Amino acid sequence: MGSVISGVIAGTGGYLPARSVSNDELAAEKHLDTTDAWIVERTGIRRRHFAADGETASSMGIAACQAALAQAGASVADVDAVIVATATPDSAFPSTAARIQGGLGVTRGFAFDLSAACTGFIYALSVADAMIRTGQARGVLVVGTEVYSRILDWSDRGTCVLFGDGAGAVFVVAEEGSTRGLLSTHLHSDGRHGDILQVDGGAGSTGGTGVVRMAGREVFKHAVTKLAAAVDEALAANGLGHDDVAWLVPHQANIRIIEAMGRKLHLGLDRVVVTVDRHANTSAASIPLALAEATRDGRIKPGDLVLMEAIGGGLTWGAALARF
Ligand code: COA
Repeated sequence: MGSVISGVIAGTGGYLPARSVSNDELAAEKHLDTTDAWIVERTGIRRRHFAADGETASSMGIAACQAALAQAGASVADVDAVIVATATPDSAFPSTAARIQGGLGVTRGFAFDLSAACTGFIYALSVADAMIRTGQARGVLVVGTEVYSRILDWSDRGTCVLFGDGAGAVFVVAEEGSTRGLLSTHLHSDGRHGDILQVDGGAGSTGGTGVVRMAGREVFKHAVTKLAAAVDEALAANGLGHDDVAWLVPHQANIRIIEAMGRKLHLGLDRVVVTVDRHANTSAASIPLALAEATRDGRIKPGDLVLMEAIGGGLTWGAALARF
């Protein structure tokens, strides 16, 4: 019997654009009828980063991948595949993944984008894990990279205050008989709810490229119930309980949703990685950015069980469990 192959997160990396904008600065700059107090109380968001002219999902993704490879002690020669989750690709094609592959100087393997909005990183991790387990790849860069500042309606105070730009990446490598690695991933979608969180246009649309539209209250209700079910599913699938979880690394959309998940899992905020205050919602980039921060500052240690969960447009949602 051959030993089981698992996908191990060997390195993490993040990239944030230099420009960080506070709630007050945003309100003044965009002439928004809002206050710092309203945004902080409802969302926990205090600041967000915005990409500079010329910065794109691929340019930020390249920086995040370089950081992830460096932390893993790996080189571009170890990369078999690049999988990018993004809702804000540089162009319809080449894919952002192919652009990142080229930019990194990877000369073999394959690269592609996938689309699952804010759940994109969990989806991409799931695909990488499956490809590693089936022997299709041994080193996979899994990237979430977003420039939501380019798809926001700056006259809609209910959405434009919620999002920021950035990129995160992990390098997942095949290990035989390892006690570390991705234990399982759990993906869900329900297209019947597509209209409550959407970009109302796109490259193939007759109505223009579109901006983010959201029914905030509806999304909030779905988030709390669906994420709770997804984390239960992930723990049950592995015969684990909330006591086993060292860190919850949730998608960073709203501190109230994050706190609700922490309470459900009996995890205090000292065991939840939170970046939403400084990054806002960076969609597919939020989980890998949080992983990059918490592995660098020593919170996430080798051997720690990390639970990740996300929900986003589609609706899509899911969870992943990984032993670091
Ligand atoms: N500043 C001030 N007032 C604002 C505002 C802002 N930035 N945005 C909305 N409001 C106002 C609304 O216009 C509304 O005013 P009205 O009562 O006069 O019509 C009021 O605040 C309440 O709006 P509502 O949308 O019901 O607020 P809410 O309490 O649901 O909070 C969200 C709004 C967006 C913060 C909240 O619904 C939320 O976090 N939803 C989940 C969003 C999410 O996580 N999305 C991403 C998932 S990937």
